[in-house]
Amino acid sequence: MYSEKVMDHFMNPRNVGEIADASGVGEVGTAQCGDIMKIYLDIEDGIIKDAKFKTFGCGSAIASSSMATEMIKGKTIQEAMEITNKAVAEALDGLPPIKMHCSVLAEQAVRSALLDYAQKNNIEIEGLEDYDFSDEHLHDMPEE
Ligand code: FES
Repeated sequence: MYSEKVMDHFMNPRNVGEIADASGVGEVGTAQCGDIMKIYLDIEDGIIKDAKFKTFGCGSAIASSSMATEMIKGKTIQEAMEITNKAVAEALDGLPPIKMHCSVLAEQAVRSALLDYAQKNNIEIEGLEDYDFSDEHLHDMPEE
């Protein structure tokens, strides 16, 4: 049911923890299952130098946050904005349809941390203003 990559990132999650004095912190949750994900970013000169996470949730959510933090490290803010939940799920060699919403949590947590960074620094990040952080987003996810 789960790919080897999902199992690997669940059993040996990368980047677990927090960053003291993080440039941006994002926390999202879903009423659907009650899971919570928190992502910390260290951003310098527009580059994500480090990313850590704490996830109180299912195995797919842990694997998704582990993969998402790996994917955004070293990237620019705009590059990180392009990483969707689909990209995270694909990097994990797929998630079962019923678990796709767990990867949405990772997408939202990264964007929420970027929003925190933008607000703290009084900057605008393209694509963030109209991003939907609501739970509706999760329910509307096509189950493919
Ligand atoms: Fe809720 Fe996975 S079941 S995030």
